[in-house]
Amino acid sequence: MGNRAAGYCFWRLLLLELCTVGCAAGAAVRGSNNGDALPESIPSAPGTLPHFLVEPEDSYIIKSNPIAMRCRAMPSMQIFFKCNGEWVHQNEHVSVESVDETTGLKIREVMINVSRQQVEDFHGPEDYWCQCVAWSHLGTSKSRKASVRIACKWTIQMKL
Ligand SMILES: *[C@@H]1O[C@H](CO)[C@@H](O)[C@H](O)[C@H]1NC(C)=O
Repeated sequence: MGNRAAGYCFWRLLLLELCTVGCAAGAAVRGSNNGDALPESIPSAPGTLPHFLVEPEDSYIIKSNPIAMRCRAMPSMQIFFKCNGEWVHQNEHVSVESVDETTGLKIREVMINVSRQQVEDFHGPEDYWCQCVAWSHLGTSKSRKASVRIACKWTIQMKL
């Protein structure tokens, strides 16, 4: 997904057009994915910090389509997104609760949408980013930070 978008940027650069909003820079740093290594073992006791089964991924907004971010943690009593250091409003989350059949631990999954407008309106020192924070009885865990960038508009037309 992200690589595909970077591909579009590449073509656009070949055509000597300028990218909007840090596209070229985004493409340049694609290689340095900062995904934190996940622990090898899945916690089996209730007295553990939440473990992320799904973490939000870096993504590109293409045209005006919002992107969906998702994460899933276990054990987790509660889980929310934070974007650019601020809590995303509870109403903007869709969350699903389930129980792991083998361990009996609670799993929580949460989703948010990030719109093009939200990314465009953000003028921070770094890319727009979101991460999840999950709570268990023992404390909180944070997921990796996922960036959201605006992909180049692809205006390539093949007229042969
Ligand atoms: C995200 O947007 C889609 C389509 O607009 C909608 O179906 C979905 O429920 C939204 N998800 C969240 C978490 O708001």
